[in-house]
Amino acid sequence: MESRTSSTGLLKAGIALAWFLASAIGALADGPIVIKFSHVVAVETPKGKGAEKFKELAEKYTSGRVKIEVYPNSTLYKDKEEVEALQLGAVQMLAPSMAKFGPLGAKEFEVFDLPYILPDKAALRRVTEGEVGKGLLKRLEPRGIVGLSFWDNGFKVMSANKPLREPADFRGMKFRIQSSKVLEAQFKALGALPQVLPFSDVYQALQTGVVDGSENTPSNMYTQKHFEVQKYATLSNHGYIGYAVIVNKKFWEALPDDIRGELEQAMKEATTFVNDSAQKDNDDALAAMKASGKIEYIELTPEQKAAWRKALEPVAAEMTSRIGKETIEAFKKAANSDAD
Ligand code: LMR
Repeated sequence: MESRTSSTGLLKAGIALAWFLASAIGALADGPIVIKFSHVVAVETPKGKGAEKFKELAEKYTSGRVKIEVYPNSTLYKDKEEVEALQLGAVQMLAPSMAKFGPLGAKEFEVFDLPYILPDKAALRRVTEGEVGKGLLKRLEPRGIVGLSFWDNGFKVMSANKPLREPADFRGMKFRIQSSKVLEAQFKALGALPQVLPFSDVYQALQTGVVDGSENTPSNMYTQKHFEVQKYATLSNHGYIGYAVIVNKKFWEALPDDIRGELEQAMKEATTFVNDSAQKDNDDALAAMKASGKIEYIELTPEQKAAWRKALEPVAAEMTSRIGKETIEAFKKAANSDAD
């Protein structure tokens, strides 16, 4: 009797052990949850560093249950393909610039591209951290996308092989743009010829003369070496480049609640990191390009600044039907209210 009990016990223990091993092996075979995060800029940029910071924090907070694979510099996908890949689930996370949400059907994001709409970073924060920012991210959901956060880059400079001081200097010149109708209208208002090109193709397009000039942030110009193939950069700060970090909705909602919470925490901290350091990244890039001696900076006089503003003023009215009157008004109201 005694030996029967112990053999039953042994059997039970054996079954339990086998079950435990099977599930442990199963878990190992399944491996961690992988999030592919694709982007188009260099690692040493605000977005590049943000993606690395998110990886570090996400893997730490989930104790390795999530693995973040970052693919920088268009190594996996270029601008247009990365958005398609996200919708198909081939990648899970992206941070496209706001100028690239048109092809997703979220044209309202192009409000960020309107010339001079953001006077400074404080105005930007009032937009992105308030109701306007939340509302914009919400509009992605019917497209199968969840918007997690806004990441900074910075204000843009204009570059070319001839000095750009007056609006008339743009006449007839070809400029590379991101896929935003607002940016198209901006260059047309200056009498230039805009051409949409993927970010990864800009250096070569500038070098070979496919386009004459470009607009970007100093950190992008520096890390992509655009300054080596452009003689002048006008420090115009006429517009802004920033990002919305987005994930595939089906994937995000299927995650266990605890993991999603840990990833949200990692994203929150990565966002603070990016937004606290983006200005310095751009200042450093400006200084490094200047030190290279390869590019000359142009500061606009107050009269020239006023002439640029005047030339670009019609863009907002022209783009109202595309972006929506309400979006533009709410954006301007938030940007210009310093009540909070
Ligand atoms: C560009 O395409 O010029 C930039 O928006 C790239 C980026 O993601 O900063």
